[in-house]
Amino acid sequence: MGIEQTAEWDALAQHAETIRRTTLKDLFATDPGRAQRLTFEVGTLAVDLSKQRVTAETIELLLALAARAGVAGRRDAMLRGERINSTEGRAVLHTALRAPAGVSILVDGHDVVPDVHAVLDQMGTFAERIRSGAWVGATGARIRNVINIGIGGSDLGPAMAYHALKQWSDRAISCRYVSNVDASDLVEATVDLDPAETLFIISSKTFTTLETMTNAHSARDWITAALGEDAVPAHMVAVSTNLDAVAAFGIDPANAFGFWDWVGGRYSMDSAIGLSLMVAIGREGFDQMLQGFRSMDEHFATTPEPANVPLLMGLCGLWERDFLGSPSLAVVPYAHELALFPAYLQQLDMESNGKHVTLDGQQVAVDTGPIVWGTPGTNGQHAYFQLLHQGTTTVPLDLIGFCQPVHELGDHHDILIANLLAQSEALAFGRAAPAGQPYRDFPGNRPTTVILGEALSPHALGELIALYEHKVFVQGAVWDINSFDQFGVELGKVLALDIIGELRPDGSPTNAHDSSTNALINRYRASLGR
Ligand code: F6P
Repeated sequence: MGIEQTAEWDALAQHAETIRRTTLKDLFATDPGRAQRLTFEVGTLAVDLSKQRVTAETIELLLALAARAGVAGRRDAMLRGERINSTEGRAVLHTALRAPAGVSILVDGHDVVPDVHAVLDQMGTFAERIRSGAWVGATGARIRNVINIGIGGSDLGPAMAYHALKQWSDRAISCRYVSNVDASDLVEATVDLDPAETLFIISSKTFTTLETMTNAHSARDWITAALGEDAVPAHMVAVSTNLDAVAAFGIDPANAFGFWDWVGGRYSMDSAIGLSLMVAIGREGFDQMLQGFRSMDEHFATTPEPANVPLLMGLCGLWERDFLGSPSLAVVPYAHELALFPAYLQQLDMESNGKHVTLDGQQVAVDTGPIVWGTPGTNGQHAYFQLLHQGTTTVPLDLIGFCQPVHELGDHHDILIANLLAQSEALAFGRAAPAGQPYRDFPGNRPTTVILGEALSPHALGELIALYEHKVFVQGAVWDINSFDQFGVELGKVLALDIIGELRPDGSPTNAHDSSTNALINRYRASLGR
């Protein structure tokens, strides 16, 4: 029976009728304790759900739905290392990446925790050698530039975290991130660099991804053209689960950092995929981030449902998506360091929950993952917030900020956070238009979740990422979908491989596609004189 056929779903659908007839303004006016009751402390974060379109009854009904869907049991199965990624037959154990030494997590009877710590130690030694200058390039020069080549989960996490934690990084080393197969990405990332001072980290779970391997080969050419073939070991290291392919590429196996098939790409930034980040912030900073992840994992695993923040956030998101009809979620960080956080969340959420079949292969009868998007505040306010305040579609927002500034500069931080709070207030409560000026009407009743952390730090970043990882898990569990595969990315990759042959100078068009694709292939060839 699909989740939409349960009495719990039905109760929520009926309850939604009542909620649609009320407004956030009414809910606040009739309940002075609302903000206090619906603000949750988790680690160093305060998560204010009071401006969600929910009542105590909504939460009760949503928790009943989660119980009906067996969310807690599914969570425990994940944490135990069961193969809950059923389509790929894999365990889902990103939580083991931050498990403390000494605990034991078994996959097929093998304890993976010592493996995790062995790789962390290997990363720590490497990072320290780069940071101290003990690792030198082929000419004996110190490494000043680290370029991570990877895409998707092998790029977005470390790139996001590096920018988030720049203040904690060694400024003598600059990290860059190259992902796009568009040559402009690699060319622009290297144009002002000295190969003798540059180290590439080739990050790819599979070590077969077309974009990453194309960039890796071009990077190697860039190194060898300047420094010769023998320079490769000192200037290229790799992170992968496919260590044979790493060796075949010519990277010294001693400079290969492994991880495991039970780490999904989009859940891998705290594995060796975070190597560039560890170089930047050091082992200690990385460990603090892992502690932040771990404290959120513990909260998710052990906190009773009514105060379990990832559970509540997941359910409030599902409430908006399935019962109040909001197709998207805007994530707007009021912390410039988190500029890449929305892009990171896009993969985490949309690659996980953008699914249309249930675990037993049936068509999902309800809407699944929302469209996630966003850019930093206050910039977004001067662009798309118009639509958020006065447009015809309700877009729930997550507004994320921190009490303590990263940089003290005049009253910048007060202005920044005032804007976050003002937006949340304006979106919720609106303002009636002056007579005769309907274009000045702010309808309000637009939901936000405010996450106000104490201070951005490696620890807080770990908490924040794990919060969203578990939120996404909760939603996928209720929808009964596999949040851990990504077959939706395959078709385009396969078709591109065919088309590449038709575009190359030595290839020829098959004209066997649809008329549009055929015409575009021929136009491209004609433009290049092929
Ligand atoms: O195309 C999607 C994807 O498979 C992501 O899930 C993954 O994070 C990314 O490609 C990169 O894959 P890899 O790390 O194997 O290069």
